[in-house]
Amino acid sequence: GDANSPSGSAEGEQVANNDGCDPGEQVIKFSHVTNSDKHPKGIAASLLQERVNTEMDGRMCMEVFPNSMLYDDDKVLEAMLLGDVQMAAPSLSKFENYTTRLRIFNFPFLFDDIDAVDRFQASSAGQSLLDSMKDKGLQGLSFWHSGMKQLSADRPLLEPADARGLKFRVENSDVLVAVFDQLGANPQKMSFSEVYGALQTGVVDGQENSWSNIYGQKFYEVQDGITNTDHGVLDYMVVTSSRWWNGLEEENRRDLARIVGEVTTERNDAVTQLEEEARQAVADAGTEIRELTPEQREQWVNALRPVWQRFTPDVGADTLRAAQAANQ
Ligand code: LMR
Repeated sequence: GDANSPSGSAEGEQVANNDGCDPGEQVIKFSHVTNSDKHPKGIAASLLQERVNTEMDGRMCMEVFPNSMLYDDDKVLEAMLLGDVQMAAPSLSKFENYTTRLRIFNFPFLFDDIDAVDRFQASSAGQSLLDSMKDKGLQGLSFWHSGMKQLSADRPLLEPADARGLKFRVENSDVLVAVFDQLGANPQKMSFSEVYGALQTGVVDGQENSWSNIYGQKFYEVQDGITNTDHGVLDYMVVTSSRWWNGLEEENRRDLARIVGEVTTERNDAVTQLEEEARQAVADAGTEIRELTPEQREQWVNALRPVWQRFTPDVGADTLRAAQAANQ
């Protein structure tokens, strides 16, 4: 670890791996918050960098800044609109200031698995979400997966009542706040880089995240096991500013869009395996992984269902139907 990486990040984590750009190349700064090693977003960003810098050599040059070393997710979109950073892939929970339509991705127990998420994103309802922030100057290019979210605290969580009264870190989303309110818990919005420390010192008792983040940030070290809930999804939008995107030379925009699309397909296809490896690594570290019985799972589903009603007007009934249809 170095001064820039969060205390909980994976061992041997490097800072930016940027060779420097040549004069005359248009620089693309890509800022993100996770570790780059063994993480779905980290790997996808590195592959994107490698391909842009090889295939667009002399024209464009990408620099990737992982681990919140440049901006955390609260700041990166503002920085993008100011032109200080050109690309990022924040979680779909981090666009609250720009649209409420992406709240669909935080509906609890909506998607059966990551394949259902993928089908919804590929549908016309899903694809239209990439354009949902155009009026705010942000252009989505594609969706990247992390995985289904798991739940943990400093004590076992098997029934909804187990979460009552506990403090949980949530991402910056009002739907997630409503989820934990519904459980009688105390949600606290907090940026990703602060979570490990907050769990360690007891500022919060619990958290929810994908296996790759629970592993990559070592949250399992400071929790009493992880409950395999799959209660939500952690996914990303690769995003840029409309002004920057539209200002690119046509050939550059076309090549960049193609490379982003190809990297998206390749890495999203690999994500289930990567999340499984992270889960296995968490188990190998001696962490207890708790499975819910069908009855316990049903209790969580029922406890959280009222959240859907409250946020359906924000996302639109059609979008909700399209998302449900993706479960097939
Ligand atoms: C989080 O804040 O927990 C995630 O959005 C971090 C990430 O980018 O995976």
